[in-house]
Amino acid sequence: MPGDSMDKPNTVTCTAPVNIAVIKYWGKRNEELILPINSSLSVTLHQDQLKTTTTVATSRSFQEDRIWLNGKEEDITHPRLQSCLREIRRLARKRRNDGDPALDSMGFSHKVHICSINDFPTAAGLASSAAGFACLVYTLSRVFDVEGELSGIARQGSGSACRSMYGGFVQWIMGQKDDGKDSLAQQVAPETHWPELRVLVLVASAERKPVGSTSGMQTSVQTSRLLKHRAESVVPGRMVKMIEAVQRKDFTAFAELTMKDSNQFHATCLDTYPPIFYLSSVSQQVINLVHRYNRHYGETRVAYTFDAGPNAVIYMLQQHVPEFVQAVQHFFPPESNGGQFVKGLPVNHVALSEELRRSIGLEPLPKGISYVISTKVGPGPCVVEDPTQHLLGSDGLPKETV
Ligand code: DP6
Repeated sequence: MPGDSMDKPNTVTCTAPVNIAVIKYWGKRNEELILPINSSLSVTLHQDQLKTTTTVATSRSFQEDRIWLNGKEEDITHPRLQSCLREIRRLARKRRNDGDPALDSMGFSHKVHICSINDFPTAAGLASSAAGFACLVYTLSRVFDVEGELSGIARQGSGSACRSMYGGFVQWIMGQKDDGKDSLAQQVAPETHWPELRVLVLVASAERKPVGSTSGMQTSVQTSRLLKHRAESVVPGRMVKMIEAVQRKDFTAFAELTMKDSNQFHATCLDTYPPIFYLSSVSQQVINLVHRYNRHYGETRVAYTFDAGPNAVIYMLQQHVPEFVQAVQHFFPPESNGGQFVKGLPVNHVALSEELRRSIGLEPLPKGISYVISTKVGPGPCVVEDPTQHLLGSDGLPKETV
């Protein structure tokens, strides 16, 4: 509801998903506008397991823009935050100037208070900036009643955030224009398209904090010839093949492209000078496990992909989940007294055959994986209708519980 003339804030709460790329974005041609050197494609994960929640309030009585992230007040002058705020306000102003007088009450000239939380631990190492900026832009757009293409604004918060503006399978088309107007996300298929597809996040016990993606890709662009070759000569063909694989629900093609693209991304990290290492010994064991599992069955049943950290994201079809989870648990024995090993969507217990165990033949790596999040493909950002879920109280400050 639009803000009223009283001092009660106009408050909106939304949620947004995490996305995991199967054709990776790595490298910018414009740092400020966040324009990539290649297109990319991702799967949006379900918000029942992983999401960001953001509340935005506007009020005449607010003195300044403020933001709280995971319970702590942060610096609102951060340039990427400012880009998103500026672009949404620009759109809101444009709508009013275009002659919609109802928008005068929207309060877009008022200051905003923003409060955001992730429901997944930072230790999960998932690109929280993607869900975070997608949620920020989506919530601001609802508060200011701005419609239309918003992925170009989310992109200016964090590149991968533009893909979290849609559910299902999403491509980020790199675009050609200098002003970035054609560098946008687009849904390739909705979340209902391939219901058998499942996703496992294998959270590796982190050893150290890896190099951030923003600075990592900067060094790669400056030093890696392989990255240039990848962007110009490899990714364009892979995008076409990946879109076809998704549309045909061809798991073998989808899985092989996913693994090859992850491997090439990490090869460009090694080709960066000085080199960047995101894969740990646990990641390597996951890669071996997947290939040996697939070899045992003589078909590609499981695929891995890794972002800027050691955690594996596994794609597979529903019918193979119980056995593969059992294999993970066998080759990465968890702490016996630890909490639940598999979180999220329930996974049935099955026995692991001696034959499969022997055919995989790896030495178990105790405690290499802390836990597994079991999830599936999900929808894009949503409005939370229940006002009791707002993270900001009627005074415009974070509630005690946040
Ligand atoms: C490896 O979107 O986090 O996850 O645009 O600098 O904010 P910035 O980088 P970010 O990079 C994500 C890189 C990746 C691959 C991907 O998600 O496509």
